[in-house]
Amino acid sequence: MKILQLLENAPYSETQRAWLGGFFSGMRSQLKQNAGAANATVAQTIHILYGSQTGNAESVANDAATAAKAHGLKPVVTSMDAIDSDALAAMDTLLIVTSTYGEGEMPDNAQMLWEAVSAESMPQLPNMKFSVLALGDTGYDLFCKAGIDWDNRLAELGATRIYDRVDCDVAFEAPAESWISSVIPQLDGRDAINRVSTMVVDTETAVPKSQYSRKNPFPAKLLVNRLLTAADSSKETRHYEISIAGSELSYEAGDALSIVPTNCPDLVAAIINAIGCTGDEIEPVNGESMSLSDALRTQFEIKLPSKELVQEIATRSGNQELNGLLSTGDKEALSNYLWGRDTLDLLLQNPLCEFAAAEFIALLKPLQHRAYSISSSGKMHADTVHLTVASVRYDSFDRQHKGVCSTFLADLVDAETEVRCFFTPNKVFRVPEDNSLPMIMVGPGTGVAPFRAFLQERLHRKATGKNWLFFGDRNAATDFIYRDELEAMQADGVLTRLDLAFSRDQAEKIYVQDKMREHGAELFAWLEQGGYFFVCGDAYHMAKDVDKALLDVIAEHGKLSEQQAIDYVNQLKKHKRYVRDVY
Ligand SMILES: Cc1cc2nc3c(=O)[nH]c(=O)nc-3n(C[C@H](O)[C@H](O)[C@H](O)COP(=O)(O)OP(=O)(O)OC[C@H]3O[C@@H](n4cnc5c(N)ncnc54)[C@H](O)[C@@H]3O)c2cc1C
Ligand SMILES: NC(=O)c1ccc[n+]([C@@H]2O[C@H](COP(=O)([O-])OP(=O)(O)OC[C@H]3O[C@@H](n4cnc5c(N)ncnc54)[C@H](OP(=O)(O)O)[C@@H]3O)[C@@H](O)[C@H]2O)c1
Ligand SMILES: Cc1cc2nc3c(=O)[nH]c(=O)nc-3n(C[C@H](O)[C@H](O)[C@H](O)COP(=O)(O)O)c2cc1C
Repeated sequence: MKILQLLENAPYSETQRAWLGGFFSGMRSQLKQNAGAANATVAQTIHILYGSQTGNAESVANDAATAAKAHGLKPVVTSMDAIDSDALAAMDTLLIVTSTYGEGEMPDNAQMLWEAVSAESMPQLPNMKFSVLALGDTGYDLFCKAGIDWDNRLAELGATRIYDRVDCDVAFEAPAESWISSVIPQLDGRDAINRVSTMVVDTETAVPKSQYSRKNPFPAKLLVNRLLTAADSSKETRHYEISIAGSELSYEAGDALSIVPTNCPDLVAAIINAIGCTGDEIEPVNGESMSLSDALRTQFEIKLPSKELVQEIATRSGNQELNGLLSTGDKEALSNYLWGRDTLDLLLQNPLCEFAAAEFIALLKPLQHRAYSISSSGKMHADTVHLTVASVRYDSFDRQHKGVCSTFLADLVDAETEVRCFFTPNKVFRVPEDNSLPMIMVGPGTGVAPFRAFLQERLHRKATGKNWLFFGDRNAATDFIYRDELEAMQADGVLTRLDLAFSRDQAEKIYVQDKMREHGAELFAWLEQGGYFFVCGDAYHMAKDVDKALLDVIAEHGKLSEQQAIDYVNQLKKHKRYVRDVY
């Protein structure tokens, strides 16, 4: 009814008001009737399943549900790890929204369901109607692979594709909205009047959200920027404290904070010079006119070149090596060629590549936020968010290269700078609700971040459960970050066990998984006591090796076969007792 009230209160003339009076009263009684009719009608259920690591797919799934409700449908949004293949087989109408992780892999919460659905024993699904929205990043070789796999598999099982799969790049919002607005009306079996009544009811019951979100990041201030690693370390890891005071935002231990960076002005200037522009060229960008210089600083990814830019540079320059790599389609060889080369390197190495400002901008991807696992507990630090960030700096092709966001925080932000940020909740990466259960945390390098938050949370809750941290980094003398805090927590008894693996302090590398194996009997005992197993940090090497070590420990100390150990781990995953925050 709110829409009607708003219309009624608008500044109409008396004549308009007289005519509208009749219209409003008719509409009101029509809506009442429709509300009754809608209650009498059984809304069609549609299932929306999401596979999501950091919440993007989950938020699109929720948007799809909102749209479905407005069309009189009954949406049921479910995480892929909350159902099994039998439940999936029973669904008539299924929308899948999934991201891709690792190297073309399913996100963690989708893995088990995917394994079950891809098994030969999976029954045919002739009665199912489906559509898939795939989220990904064209920067990865296997773009949207998880969504593609779901789409192919459901079709293979005889389900009917009601709308073609849409593959979204990092700027997923617009294509996702378009997919939702195309697919949902196809499922709407009701007439237009009933739709109106449902929309009015939704307006009245909508819960107001904070004004700050991914779409409207909070302009925060950086309060603390402290070097954690020693000055003579081979790494640079920093502790940041960001004020969220006045934002009305809150967070939980286990969430991430996403930061919207700006590019380094020196890199912007060097690129403008390399393409033969001045930087003052005015171009339309996202509905605004702005100088090329501002656009490159604030709107576009200018460090990692897009595939389109690489192709265009190859074509314009005639660079034989690059053209050769592009034409063979050998992704690995191309990725080896591009490793360590950023946009500026490509421009400098192909000096004939001059671009008009508009041409160049058209070849760039939008500048993306970067996520950081929060290293504080919101219960202990309601107004600040702590981050633990490794600054990406490396030399190649006779230049120092800097990661966009990690060095934006390290070098470019002062007390006046706005740090635009939003929370990326991770609902499964949480301290157990039961304060008496043990927690095992594996977090080498910056992977320790959420575990600092978890330990603060346990301290705040006065939790009695045991806590075990496996931490490691290159050298104890220079890279034992948060040493004082961790040792103090150990002395206080909050941190029951701390096992350390400093990889470069001896000839043979020692990693966290070696420590897990060394203490396998006790680790298994903690799991048997209902323990939770958390992993955070590098996805590509560490998390895979830790996964293998966990299986080995369970098999050896549980005296289980390989398959039984896999089943044991799957049970842990199913009950959210083995969860990861890996990147
Ligand atoms: C959920 C999540 C949580 C995260 N939590 C944390 C955290 O707590 N702490 C943290 O530090 N990071 C964290 N990250 C990673 C973080 O989001 C950024 O990816 C990281 O800071 C690098 O971003 P950047 O903008 O500085 O670098 P970018 O500008 O994105 O550059 C990184 C790229 O530079 C290139 N590169 C890097 N090193 C080299 C090298 N030696 N040689 C050649 N090329 C190289 C690679 O192409 C690499 O992809 C997290 C990521 C996710 C998804
Ligand atoms: N290039 C950069 O400058 C840079 C900077 C920051 C972050 N990053 C990236 O960001 C991510 C996180 O970085 P980080 O600082 O948290 O950690 P990290 O630097 O990748 O490593 C932390 C510790 O993990 C060890 N490690 C390496 N491979 C491992 C494996 N297979 N299993 C277990 N441990 C392993 C490292 O040992 P060794 O290194 O001795 O092998 C080091 O002791 C990584 O993906 C990293 O590549 C890169
Ligand atoms: C560590 C990591 C690995 C990724 N691997 C891929 C990939 O192989 N293919 C792809 O298309 N996208 C990949 N992506 C991009 C994600 O799919 C994309 O950011 C997506 O929007 C994340 O959605 P989510 O928050 O729902 O998980 C990767 C992202 C990260 C952080």
